[in-house]
This record gives sequence, C-alpha cells and structure tokens, in this order.
Amino acid sequence: MKIAIVGAGAMGCLYGAKLSAVPTNEVYLIDVWQEHIDAINKNGLTMEENGEEVSYRAVRGVTDAGEAGVCDLAIVFVKSTLTSAAVKANRAVFGPDTVALTLQNGLGNIDLIRAEIGDGNVIAGTTAHGATMLGPGKMRHAGSGKTVIGELNGKQTERIETIAGTLREADLETDISDNVLGLVWDKLLVNVGINALTGITKLQNGELLKHREIEELLEAAVSEAYGVACAKGITLSYDDPVGHTKAVCVATAANKSSMLQDILNHKQTEIDMINGAIVREGALAGIPTPVNSVLTNLIKFIQK
Ligand code: PAF
Repeated sequence: MKIAIVGAGAMGCLYGAKLSAVPTNEVYLIDVWQEHIDAINKNGLTMEENGEEVSYRAVRGVTDAGEAGVCDLAIVFVKSTLTSAAVKANRAVFGPDTVALTLQNGLGNIDLIRAEIGDGNVIAGTTAHGATMLGPGKMRHAGSGKTVIGELNGKQTERIETIAGTLREADLETDISDNVLGLVWDKLLVNVGINALTGITKLQNGELLKHREIEELLEAAVSEAYGVACAKGITLSYDDPVGHTKAVCVATAANKSSMLQDILNHKQTEIDMINGAIVREGALAGIPTPVNSVLTNLIKFIQK
C-alpha cells in the first residue's frame, strides 16, 4: 500500500516506521521540518524501543507532498490546531480514491478534513500509543496500545478491513469499531484527564497517580467530561472513564504527554480541542465544567 503520513511528529514517525517495515508498503513521511526530513533520508528514522535503537531506512521523508504523489492511504497526524492547513498544503497526496485516516487527539478533526476533501473518503480512529520526539530523525516509542479505526457511518467495509489488515501486518494491534464518534470521545476523555495536568505539573503520565491532589483533579476533569458525553448521547466503549484514564496513565507511565511536550518545546497546544472542547460542549448541553475551565485557562496562560 502507498501511504502518506501527514505530520512527522513522534506519533507520525512511529506509524511511518512500523508501516515501512512491511516490504509491500511504500511510506512517505511529510513534514515542514527540513532538518528532520533530511536526517530521515540520510540515516533512516531511528526509533528507541524497549531500550534498543532501530533504524528504519525504507521510509522516505519529504517536505513537498508532490514528491510523494497520490497515495492509497493518508494518515493525518498533525496537531489538531494545524489540520486544515496541513490537508490543504498536502493536497497532492489526496486523489479521488485516497482514504484519509485521522488518529489525532481532540474534537473536530473529522469535520475539518471532510471540509477539505469531501465526506466519502474520511475514516477515523484513535491510538493509545505514546511517543516522544528526541531530535531530528529520532524518536522514542514510550508506550504501546491499541489502534481502533472505523468508518464514519459505522459500516464494515472492505476498505476498513484492508486498512486494519495493513496496520496489523505492521505490528500495530488494531480493532475495527462501528462507533467512531464514541471512539473519538473515548480518547478525548483520556486526553482531558492527562494532557492539561501533565502540561501544568510537568509530570510524566504515570506520575499523575502518585500525587493524590493531582489524581483528584484528573478524576474531576474526566467525570465532568463524561457528564457532557452522556448529555450528548455519546456511547463510550467503557463504563468507567476515570478507571480507563488511570489505566492509560499506567500503560504510558514513562511518557511525556503530547501537551507537556508542546509546553516544553514552546509550541501551541491542543487545549482548545481537548479541555476547551469540553467547556464549549458543556455550555451547549447545560453541564457545568469548572475544572476543565480552570485547566484550559491555566494552559492558555502557560502557552502565552
Ligand atoms: O496526547 C498524548 O500524549 C496521548 O494521547 C496519551 C494517550 C495521553 C499518552 O501520552
């Protein structure tokens, strides 16, 4: 399969590297960070995993999507603040039959991609992997988890089966779901509990549970978000969102969350699509979200 990864951050690199290890795949990592792309093309993409370094040489880096050309699958992995701009800038990989898969954090990406390339070719999902960028051409796989993907209409199609098969072949454990919106909210609640708190405290994911005063805030933020999800009629795939979020903290214990990485790297965070989205959706549903409001404002202050 010919695959473009739009956004070669830590997560994009993880998927790009794994997919490129299957000889029948042709994988392009697309990013504007020239030094990173040059390092990938010169030395391969180096992934630190379980204390070992592996270099993936089959993956190609490009800054110009035109060099990759039309692909069968484009996995969108840019920050959700950049979704529209990245799809616009990389139109060259999207042909009439290209399937766009968003595995991004936060609420709103599906609609942003649909607005650019049309309704029929967008599928969505979530990933529970954790990854950290170490420098140009180098990243760490910090925690493993499942990838879950699905068609927006919930149907079991041939293309979703094929794409799930391609991910599984690349050693990425993958399930198919008939409830994509529920999936996005499943992940949203995890990010609501982990990302802002790690960004504010600078703790790694697992350390959030070692400080009771922080753990209480995690519980409160996720419970508020769960209230909003229930009011909107969203069906989550688990009954205990707080317990599930804590399990993700444990599974990705050594990871610096994506929001903490953004804060440390002085980048804009995805706060508006995570805790900020809960505040907005809560206001629409008449559900108070004071903890998410405080977390949103603190992150906005820090990033300012
Ligand atoms: O945003 C992140 O960092 C990740 O979604 C997660 C699961 C919180 C792991 O760090």
